[in-house]
Amino acid sequence: MANRMVLNETSYIGAGAIASIVDEAKGRGFKKALIVTDKDLVKFNVVSKVTSLLDNNGLAYEVFDHVKANPTVGIVKEGLKVFAECGADYLIAIGGGSPIDTTKAIGIISANPEYADVVSLEGAVNTPNKSVPIFAVPTTAGTAAEVTINYVITDEEKKRKFVCVDPHDIPIVAFVDSDMMSSMPKGLTASTGMDALTHAIEGYTTKAAWELTDTLHLKAIEIIARSLRSAVAGEPKGREDMALGQYVAGMGFSNVGLGIVHAMAHPLGAFYDTPHGIANAVILPYVMEYNAPATGDKFREIARAMGVEGVDGMTQEEYRKAAVEAVKKLSEDVGIPKTLREIGVKEEDLEDLANSAYADACAPGNPKDASVEDILNLYKSIY
Ligand SMILES: NC(=O)c1ccc[n+]([C@@H]2O[C@H](COP(=O)([O-])OP(=O)(O)OC[C@H]3O[C@@H](n4cnc5c(N)ncnc54)[C@H](O)[C@@H]3O)[C@@H](O)[C@H]2O)c1
Ligand SMILES: [Fe+2]
Repeated sequence: MANRMVLNETSYIGAGAIASIVDEAKGRGFKKALIVTDKDLVKFNVVSKVTSLLDNNGLAYEVFDHVKANPTVGIVKEGLKVFAECGADYLIAIGGGSPIDTTKAIGIISANPEYADVVSLEGAVNTPNKSVPIFAVPTTAGTAAEVTINYVITDEEKKRKFVCVDPHDIPIVAFVDSDMMSSMPKGLTASTGMDALTHAIEGYTTKAAWELTDTLHLKAIEIIARSLRSAVAGEPKGREDMALGQYVAGMGFSNVGLGIVHAMAHPLGAFYDTPHGIANAVILPYVMEYNAPATGDKFREIARAMGVEGVDGMTQEEYRKAAVEAVKKLSEDVGIPKTLREIGVKEEDLEDLANSAYADACAPGNPKDASVEDILNLYKSIY
């Protein structure tokens, strides 16, 4: 069987990458952009780094800044209306996963209006047309939404997050610029970085993993493990490495899927608005322990990439433990809470959370099959 690889067309990666927006927009003959972002990014002068470039080069744009974390169907519908009315011919997403995912939904539905209800885009959908062209400018080093074929939207009525998988949503150009991430506070740097580590570890161990994606995921684990602490400390080199590390993880997991860490994290976002990276980081080590028996010798390579020494002399039990411990240590060093109770999860919701996680699009990719009961037991043990 052949393995499919889908990546975005062009990426500029490194400090200062956004300067290339001007030539890319002009070279493609675009007339006007709708910038999709959130209010905090306007307030912290992150968006103005891009708009001043556009202003100085006579490129027209309008700004839609109503996106919120864990973006909803309602926000997508609002953005669709603004896009239809403003006469833009391309979209610029500026933000973390939330604005980029919202942009993908706007771009896909504008090109495929039969999906205007948004919720029918859940799962793997064969939309007939490519999205309206998207330029993606990530401002967090985490989701890699600029290179993935996924987007995640919250159905506010049903209180659930749903994952959409569609190669037609992929941004045509990504500008992965660590200067756009430098204003992230410590906590956000830590949580989004742990999201990226979760992508790399789940992508490496997921059922569909293969040699090419293994290479990407191991490299991503290595880069993230060596640079997340210094990125959290605000060091520019750490930030630049994290921008790359999260992108490399995205190149991989987008093509093979994830597992039950993400399946269990999504309901926390829908129920309590828990930041996505924190939800993943709290759950990750427990699911690693649960999955270990189904991962062959892969935890040896995870431990090695995490910087553990002497892994070749370890027994299977030892290297599996070492991999989990290294992840726990990194999480602790960057200040991630350890239990679900600490992040506001309610014990009486655990059953509903487990049912929702079981139905999540990421669950079937988990290396070890997990029943609703298994997931409930995991939630209980992390509580
Ligand atoms: N598309 C994908 O492949 C994919 C993968 C993983 C997660 N996701 C989704 O992405 C969303 C999470 O995205 P996220 O973790 O990047 O965060 P986010 O986009 O939700 O942003 C969180 C907060 O951080 C702030 N922020 C972002 N960048 C900043 C900066 N440079 N300086 C200061 N503040 C900044 C925002 O204003 C916001 O308040 C979730 O909905 C998650 O499900 C998508
Ligand atoms: Fe994620």
